[in-house]
Amino acid sequence: MTGQKKVPFVTFLTRVRDDSVPGPNPYRWEERTSDDYFAGKRVLLFSLPGAFTPTCSTYQLPNFEDLYDEFKKEGIDAIYCLSVNDAFVMNAWGKSLELQKVELIPDGSGEFTRKMGMLVAKDNLGFGMRSWRYAALVNNGVVEQWFEEEGFSDNCETDPYGVSSPQNVLQTLRAVA
Ligand code: BEZ
Repeated sequence: MTGQKKVPFVTFLTRVRDDSVPGPNPYRWEERTSDDYFAGKRVLLFSLPGAFTPTCSTYQLPNFEDLYDEFKKEGIDAIYCLSVNDAFVMNAWGKSLELQKVELIPDGSGEFTRKMGMLVAKDNLGFGMRSWRYAALVNNGVVEQWFEEEGFSDNCETDPYGVSSPQNVLQTLRAVA
């Protein structure tokens, strides 16, 4: 991916807490667009194959959360974790990990991931279409740095993880600062 690629314009369907909603589940739908997430900000986006999966839940997402303040020191305004999962799943995942800092983006339809060129089949795991692992430094919607795991492919037998790890991304940002 070149340095001038823009993230696609997509509308994400999120679920947000709203205590004015009656009943035991006080959440409502809220549409958020790519502009809401990316316009006028320098952010770190990372994307992974699925909520609650082992590497994502044990290492990648919690480590980004732990290193959030270090990323802030490098001029990052926000960190987004995107997955081809719906808003209910993403919210449950964030709650289970007690996330406070990293924001979750539900790409339930896979539209953003497809338009980023990162949609892969994971039918070998019964997952359907999901995101290849990557991270990107995105400045006002423009991809400035790209961190893609090797071996982009459908039904990959392995789960390469390293290039898009928070440790590697942070080290790279520090080196180019
Ligand atoms: C993992 O995060 O460990 C994982 C991701 C996708 C499929 C299987 C495992």
